[in-house]
Amino acid sequence: MKKRVLYILIGAVITTVAFQSCEEEENETKISSYESSESHKAGQDCMECHLSGGDGEGWFKVAGTVYDEAQTSVYPNSTVKLYTGANATGDLVATVEVDMNGNFYTTKVIDFGSGLYTSVEGNTATKNMMSSITNGKCNSCHGVSTDRIWAK
Ligand code: HEC
Ligand code: HEC
Repeated sequence: MKKRVLYILIGAVITTVAFQSCEEEENETKISSYESSESHKAGQDCMECHLSGGDGEGWFKVAGTVYDEAQTSVYPNSTVKLYTGANATGDLVATVEVDMNGNFYTTKVIDFGSGLYTSVEGNTATKNMMSSITNGKCNSCHGVSTDRIWAK
């Protein structure tokens, strides 16, 4: 009888440990929308933390921040798109809404293939990035080695 209780206990412990470690490694779905304001750290490279093994909730495939023309204030409710062709041509692979903090992010799997072209749509203009990208860490370049992403 005592042995049986012990086995059940050991079983329960193993199940709990296995379940917990599995949960910790699971990605969470996080996708920005025009109405949302859950994001933070505008301008920072989101994927320093939001990646597998990082502290951030959700492993982002595309994320960054859009600013206004002066590149001082964020520009909410704009839209980021990813295409297979330059200047917003080819297939539209992803559309990511910029939230109320000027941030955009998605955990959706995106196939960058040999490179995707991105554009940002503001209220009056669409700006296209000329070169293609093979990852979505927008703020790893923008605000660091090149201008902030901006829209108007
Ligand atoms: C220095 C690490 C770090 C950076 C950089 C970072 N985050 Fe986070 N993020 C976290 C952590 C940790 C959490 C979970 C705890 C919390 O909400 O603060 C989180 C949570 C979030 C959440 C989930 C909030 C919720 O309640 O569901 C969103 C959305 C988010 N971050 C977006 C972003 C965006 C967009 C960027 C880049 C502009 C970014 N984060 C940059 C660490 C970071
Ligand atoms: C590897 C670095 C890098 C990454 C990653 C990157 N960019 Fe760029 N981006 C640049 C550079 C350099 C330019 C200027 C030259 C060009 O357009 O190719 C640029 C230009 C742009 C422009 C046009 C700017 C203008 O004034 O016309 C937009 C819009 C843009 N990027 C948006 C994005 C978005 C959105 C992402 C993420 C999905 C992103 N970029 C990721 C480096 C990067």
